[in-house]
This record gives sequence, structure tokens and C-alpha cells, in this order.
Amino acid sequence: MADTDTATPHVPGPDPAKARAILESTSGLVLQQVARPGVGAAVWRRSFSSGFAEWIGGIPAGQLPALRALADVRAVEPCIHAACDQSGLSAGTMRDLLASDIGALALVLAQVMGQPLLHIRFEAVTTDACRRFHVDRMPGRLICTYRGPGTQFGLADETGRVVQVGEMRAGEAAILRGALWPGDEVTRLLHRSPPIAGTGQVRLLLALDPAVAPSEARRLH
Ligand SMILES: [Fe+2]
Repeated sequence: MADTDTATPHVPGPDPAKARAILESTSGLVLQQVARPGVGAAVWRRSFSSGFAEWIGGIPAGQLPALRALADVRAVEPCIHAACDQSGLSAGTMRDLLASDIGALALVLAQVMGQPLLHIRFEAVTTDACRRFHVDRMPGRLICTYRGPGTQFGLADETGRVVQVGEMRAGEAAILRGALWPGDEVTRLLHRSPPIAGTGQVRLLLALDPAVAPSEARRLH
């Protein structure tokens, strides 16, 4: 019997390695390992103390901080405090914990990406936001949902259908590779916002991105 495959000339071409694995650990050091071969996201599995979770869960929706800013990594913590001041969230131990946690996460991202200038988005989310599975068009992003359900992960099967392969809980932090992650690997791990529209839930989401050059930013938007 003829082997039909041999009738079709095989055109050799590059088959780029795919970054699709979720690397997870209860140690925060895992975030640094997002650059390991084949990793699409590094997830720090952690949970807040009950006192902190109770405090952040009890903030009235109107007092949740809302911040979009470009800042040097050393200014992230004071930026969070400034946003809390603006939203009327009183100073105190818990607020200090929140700001210092975000400052520490920012430091990790700045080290991983080699970029001290970061874009901060820290705000309440009440819709499905990015409800379709996707890869961000940027080098990488750190996300942490401080309140409410966390980001979901997905992978496309051979037919293109996306299957959910994991999710994050409140408090957990992750660095996700984006489409512009440096190197030859292609990011295949997808993610999306959890569907919460109509449920009355309010998420408090932190997303930190490395700043990109103005020429690059024009290309991305
Ligand atoms: Fe995204």
C-alpha cells in the first residue's frame, strides 16, 4: 500500500517551543521561575490571614482604591497609599500590609522583567472584564486578585476548543507570560477573567505590567 504521506513533500520549518505549563508553589520564589523553559505562568499559591481577608472583604465598594499609574518600582507602595487616601480608606495596619504586599510583588516583577518602570492597575472589577481566553499583548504581567474569584487558565486543544486547566484564588499571585515574552518560545497558556457579571460580586484586581517604550506602546494599542 502506498504511503500517502510520502507523496506530500515535507517542508521543514521552525516549530517553536510552546510555553504552556503552569508552575505553582506555596513559596513566593516560584514567581522568579516564570522564565523556565515551557512555563506559561508561575503561580504563588498562598492565602491571606483571616484577619486581612476579613478586612479587605469588608471594605465598602465605594471605598475600594482605584489606581492606574506608571511608577518606578520604589514608588509603588506609596502610590497604593495615595490611592487609598483618595478613596477614603483609612490608614492602619491592614492598609500597610496591603501596600507593602503590592510593593513586594512589584519588586519581583521588576526583577523578572528587568524593568523598574511599571504600569499599575489596581481597581474594583464588577464585570466579566476580559471574559474570552487570551494571551496579553505584552511581555508579561503580574496579577493578584485581592478580593473575589481569581483569574482562570485555559489551553486550546487540537480543534481550537479552549479547555479550562486551572484557576487562581483570592490572594494568590502569578506572573503570566505575554505574547511579547522575550525569546523563541510561543506563549500558549491562555487566561481570562472569571465570569462574575450579574452575581453582585466585586473583585479587587491588581495587574502590574513592565513599561514599554513609546514606539512599542504605539504598536500594541
Ligand atoms: Fe489578560
